[in-house]
Amino acid sequence: MTADVSAERAGRLDAADELAPFRARFVPIADPGVVAYLDGNSLGRPLLATAERLQEVVAQEWGSRLIRSWDEHWLTLPGRIGDHLGRVALGAAPGQAIVADSTSVCLYKTIRAAVALRPGRDEIVTDTANFPTDRFLVESIAAELGLTVRWIDADPWDGFGAEQVAEAVGERTAAVVLSHVDYRSAAIADLAGITRLVHERGALAVWDLCHSVGSIPVELDAAEADFAVGCTYKFLNAGPGAPAFLYVAARHQDAFAQPITGWMGAADTFGMAAHYEPAPGIRRALSGTPPVLGMVGVQEGVALLAEAGITRVRAKAVALGRWVLDLADAWLVPLGFTIASPREDDRRGGHVTVRHPDAERLSARLIEHGVIIDFRRPDGIRLGLSPLTTGFTEVRDAMARIRELA
Ligand SMILES: Cc1ncc(COP(=O)(O)O)c(C=O)c1O
Repeated sequence: MTADVSAERAGRLDAADELAPFRARFVPIADPGVVAYLDGNSLGRPLLATAERLQEVVAQEWGSRLIRSWDEHWLTLPGRIGDHLGRVALGAAPGQAIVADSTSVCLYKTIRAAVALRPGRDEIVTDTANFPTDRFLVESIAAELGLTVRWIDADPWDGFGAEQVAEAVGERTAAVVLSHVDYRSAAIADLAGITRLVHERGALAVWDLCHSVGSIPVELDAAEADFAVGCTYKFLNAGPGAPAFLYVAARHQDAFAQPITGWMGAADTFGMAAHYEPAPGIRRALSGTPPVLGMVGVQEGVALLAEAGITRVRAKAVALGRWVLDLADAWLVPLGFTIASPREDDRRGGHVTVRHPDAERLSARLIEHGVIIDFRRPDGIRLGLSPLTTGFTEVRDAMARIRELA
């Protein structure tokens, strides 16, 4: 049976959308040429509140309180935002998440720390379809420490399965580095099940949550996760280059030894001690001065997510995903497109990717015609669905334009 893909149905879905009012909380897109923004999973749209708070922080906290603001507000900000993010999106009790650096740097720190917690083990496991930064860092850390990379040969679209992880992880494995939601296809990995399996073999898991945080609920404490990292500029709308976050389970913190031992992670930051002594708790994950202006966007993004609720966000992401699949089946599959994302709702994250032999050229044409999507090599068009900003009519308009230009 073919699904109803009419404009009326899109209108009904928009009218029934509990999260639709949140759209008014974002900076309107002034460019009249933009038909649909389906790239919020690369760069989320800015919040009006962030623009206001940035002005206020520059004028008041920075402009008027000057350096006193470090003590009054800023020094504790990475941990305070981390705690809020932990509660709202990560299923993490306070004191385990902190905002810092970029995802790449956070990955470097956590992988190094994980490996150091498993002395005598000489392998790091990751998969061939993982995001480039993850693979590159695993390779360079292995080279730095004289370890071996054990690759899981993952399907570039379907990702890896738990059985493949089970095969790769053994008594030589120190750390396993995997993404929770695949950046190409949005396939969701079984974070809890795989973490359990990794632990059974005595290793530690580092999860990359870039494509899950703010889009699907993550339950790190319940899964007994060890370490996780993620970015804030996608579904958390924190802004280009906004800082990332890392999570270190409380039980690992006393022994968490990360390699970038800067003064902000030292026990007494202003003690000017002769030698590095790590701070107790999650603060030891920090290195240098926190990026205050970038953190404003994180703070506002997390606050908005708290208001919307991750459960409602996930429910809308699922509904938007189904809508894209209905439209793709009706309009694009007959034109030679294939669906590269899982069809099962519980296996698909916050985007849908369609493949087409001419995807690269078509992507450029789509962007020219106001449908902002991502091209992912070799032939994927990634349609990002951001529940706080994306509408059902907007998605239908985008799909109509894809059909027209294909
Ligand atoms: C899955 C994944 N991991 C890591 C990164 C890299 O993040 P960063 O540029 O903050 O280091 C990205 C960036 O898009 C990503 O999508």
